[in-house]
Order: sequence, then structure tokens, then C-alpha cells
Amino acid sequence: MRKLEFLAAQALNTGCTVLVTAGALQSNHCRATAGVAAQLGLKCELILRGEEQELSGNYLLSKMLNAEITYVSRRTTGDEMSVHLADAEQRWLEKGEKALTIPIGGSDATGIWGYILAVEELMADMDHHGLSHTAIVHATGSGGTQAGLNAGVLLHGVSSDVISYAVCDDEVYFNAKAQEDWENLRAYRPELPPVPIKTLTNDHYIGPGYGRAGDEIFDTLTELARLEGITLDPVYTGKAFHGLITDLSRNTFASEASDIIFMHTGGVFGIFPHASAVQAALGRC
Ligand SMILES: Cc1ncc(COP(=O)(O)O)c(C=O)c1O
Repeated sequence: MRKLEFLAAQALNTGCTVLVTAGALQSNHCRATAGVAAQLGLKCELILRGEEQELSGNYLLSKMLNAEITYVSRRTTGDEMSVHLADAEQRWLEKGEKALTIPIGGSDATGIWGYILAVEELMADMDHHGLSHTAIVHATGSGGTQAGLNAGVLLHGVSSDVISYAVCDDEVYFNAKAQEDWENLRAYRPELPPVPIKTLTNDHYIGPGYGRAGDEIFDTLTELARLEGITLDPVYTGKAFHGLITDLSRNTFASEASDIIFMHTGGVFGIFPHASAVQAALGRC
């Protein structure tokens, strides 16, 4: 995960011995954090919403990667998670360890550098393919990818619209969260331009809620896999991609750009706990 490159560097530069983060039981970010910790020889604690259960998907991998898991209620709010993270940091301190507490999704002023840098890679790709005015489409869940991509196009003067499909929360929340990450970055890098980033959030395709998807999402995942050999997941990328193709077919896509870049942000392990929904889609498609 791109944000973790910078967060892990922060942990090493500040002498941390533990990475602590939080999320859903099937969180991609938590699994990736456990992987980075294992690679760097750091300990890892994951605070996950849910109870101990049969191993599958990201949860299985997080266990394999030797993360220490603390279970909290499924209804734990973001603010309550911040309290759990602070408590965990204190517990590690009492054990003589120094923990870096990484917010949900790794979305903070440090993590967003990962997607500012991703825009540099995209610029090279756009140049190579002769693309100028593009729409960059992605899934937004904790706002850091959105903040980083929008900051990247601003800082590099790229003429692209970043269209962020929400998988939880609404447009007002994400526009404010992305702006907050950018402002926190500017607070420690005052040389950055004192202007807001542009944000374009679409919250019409969340469906039944975070981590839950309707048949239409599984049908889109199945059709894309068959047509292009590309596998998306039902929690993040599948919802964003479904939103994109639905908006294009209805003429409601929020950009006039001549070319569209879909950011595949990973997350395929998230499909494994949904085997029965995939099975049903195979019967329909
Ligand atoms: C596969 C995948 N795509 C997209 C996102 C959304 O990124 P962000 O949390 O920065 O909004 C996530 C978040 O964990 C993810 O796991």
C-alpha cells in the first residue's frame, strides 16, 4: 500500500518498534500493515471491528503475518477507534516498546504522500500514452487516497479531474476529510501552496453499507473478470468501478475528460469471504 511506504519510514525514523492500526476485520490496510511490520522486523497490533471467526481473506493473512489482534465491537465509531489506538500506544509504552499509531486506512498527512507520488507515476503513463485531460477514478474509504491524488494533481499542475466514489460516509464527509489531510500536510510543509485541493466525491453507489454489496456489484465484478481478466473486490474497487460504468451509461459521469484512468487500488483478498455471492453471480451472468 502506497501510504504505508511513508508511514513505515516515519516509524523507522522515530525509533518505533511496533505498528498499531485499526479497521474492519477484513481490512486491506490492516493486512498490509501487518505485512510491512513483518518485513521490517517490527511488531504489529491490529484493532479490528468484529469477533474471532473462521479465517478467510485479509483476516487470514493478518493472522499469518503474525499480527496481534484486539477485537472491538462492530459498532465502534471512528472517534472510539482513535481512543483504542491511543490506549494501545500507551500499553506498548508500558511494555517498553514505542508504537506508531496509524489512523484507519493510513490516511493522514504522512500517508497521503504515497498518492502524491502516484500522480508522478500517472503523469509518466499519461505522457507515454499521449493523454492530456483525464478523469482519474478511484474508491474512497478513509479519504487519504483522495487527498493524495487531488494534492498531486494540484502540485504538479495536471489537468485531470479526480472522481472519488465513496464506499461509506457521504460527500460532505469526504470533501472535508480530504481537505483536512491536505491542511495537516501544509501545516508541516509551509512551502506548499495555501490553496484548497479540489474534491469531487460521488456517494451514490455505497449500496447497503460499508462491506456489504448488492447483486449488481457481484455481476460487475464477474463481467469485468471475464472480459478483461481483471479482478476487483466488492468493498472498494468494485463499487467504484460499478459507479463509473453506471454513470457513463446514464450520462451522469462528473467529468468531461476525454480519457478515463481507473485506479485499481488492490484489495482482491476482500472477495474471498463473499464466495456465495460470487457463486450466485456466476449463475446470473
Ligand atoms: C482496496 C482499497 N481500495 C481503496 C481504498 C480506499 O482508500 P482510502 O482509505 O485512502 O480512502 C481502500 C482502503 O482501505 C482499499 O483497501
